[in-house]
This record gives sequence, C-alpha cells and structure tokens, in this order.
Amino acid sequence: MGCDPRVMEKMSKSDYLARFDIIDINMGCPVPNVFKSGNGSALLGDLKKASAIIKGCKKSGKAVTVKFRVGIKEDAMISGEFAKMCEDSGADMITVHGRSRNMMYQGTPYFDQIEQAKSVVGIPVIANGGIFSKDDADKMMNLTGADGVMIARYGLQNPFIFSELTNKEIKKNKYTIISEQIDLTAKYYDETYTISYIKKLASYCMKKRKGTKQFKTELFRCGNITELKDIIKKIFYEQED
Ligand SMILES: Cc1cc2nc3c(=O)[nH]c(=O)nc-3n(C[C@H](O)[C@H](O)[C@H](O)COP(=O)(O)O)c2cc1C
Repeated sequence: MGCDPRVMEKMSKSDYLARFDIIDINMGCPVPNVFKSGNGSALLGDLKKASAIIKGCKKSGKAVTVKFRVGIKEDAMISGEFAKMCEDSGADMITVHGRSRNMMYQGTPYFDQIEQAKSVVGIPVIANGGIFSKDDADKMMNLTGADGVMIARYGLQNPFIFSELTNKEIKKNKYTIISEQIDLTAKYYDETYTISYIKKLASYCMKKRKGTKQFKTELFRCGNITELKDIIKKIFYEQED
C-alpha cells in the first residue's frame, strides 16, 4: 500500500521484496487514517496517480495485481473505468470488493459493479465482499461472471470454506488449525503479539457457536502461551462444533 508512484516503484524493485512473485497493490482500504493520507481507497479518486503506481510497480518485472473498491461513495461508482485503467496500466489481475469506501465493511456488495468491471477487461477478475457461505460464493460467481472469489472474514470464521469450494478434502479440525497457528506465530513473533493475534483468530472461529460467552472471558483473561494453549484445547478440542 502506498500513494507515491516513485516510492512504490522503488519498493517493488527492492531487495525486501525480491523473494516475492506478485505485487498486490491495495487500493481498497477504507480506514480513515489510510484514506486521509491518500492511500488505499483514496486512489479511487485519482486515476492518474493510481495508473502511475501500477506502471511503476510493473517495472519490477513481477506480476502486478490490484485490489480496489467500486467507488468512494455510492452515488459515484466507477468500477468499470477503474478496472480499465488498471488493465491499460499493466495490471495482470484485479480483485474488486463490491462495496464503496463509505460502506466500510457492511451492506450488500454491488454485484452489478463487479459485473461491469468484468465486462470491460480481459485480465482475470476476482470478486470480493460479503461472502459468508458456499451459497454466497455461488451467487457471487453467477451474478458477476467473475473468474473467482476472494473470501476474507468468513475464512477466519470457517477455514473449511476453501476445501468446500474446491472439493479438496482436509483432515484438520479447528483445534489442529489453531494449535498450528499458535506454534507458527510464536516462531516469528513475541508472546504478546502471539496471544493478541490468537485471541482474535479464536474469537472469529467461535462465531455463531452457542454458549461461548464464558469461554471468551477465559480466553481474553489468559496472559501467557501455556494458558492460551489450555483454553484453546478446552474450547476447540473438548467442545468441538
Ligand atoms: C480487519 C481487516 C483487515 C483487513 N486488511 C486488509 C489488508 O491488509 N489488505 C487488503 O487487501 N484487504 C484487507 N482487508 C479487506 C478484506 O480483504 C476484504 O476486502 C473485505 O473484508 C471484504 O471481504 P469480506 O466481506 O469477505 O470480509 C481487511 C479486512 C478486515 C476486516
């Protein structure tokens, strides 16, 4: 994420990113401090600058993808125009979040806006926003004609949605998945960060489950990794949903 084409070009060519194959540019983030500083979804209001960023990143020789929203406000939707600009500037794929910046993370996505983006470009289009079941994913594909879907929050609530959609069997349960996440996170981050991240992840995984209030209180009270592992076991191993 960034809004200075020269900085974006420099970073995409830099050693920091040398190991990575794709540069995915975030032109969708609606968060106030990001938006106000001209980053993320603010670029929906400056197509010239957005284009210069994509062209700059393309100079890295890597594949460049762009994720954007369908407009800043609902009365000024621009997904078709923005999608075309992305393609003309060299983007290899786009992901369209069907909500405007003003909608933040709530409300039904504008399927017609995603469809419009798909209809004006030849590069692959991924549809995103508001998918909270397999039926929602099917509906998104059918209504937009997109080449694929991207699932964000529901993937944390139900990590099995990906195997359901791809018909690939997965032998892990939620307990195994979260336990592995604890170990992986602890390998790269300190205890404070690990605990705070796992609390959030476990809360998502408990969504729509009954009788979790007491577990949540215990989860948020724990202060070290041993306690965290104990409560995760209690919630997800002994009480599987
Ligand atoms: C807490 C949170 C953090 C996010 N961070 C990013 C991010 O770093 N980059 C990005 O492209 N999108 C980010 N998103 C947006 C999601 O990728 C997605 O576009 C949005 O949540 C809509 O999809 P959903 O309805 O399936 O959740 C974030 C969303 C949330 C809720």
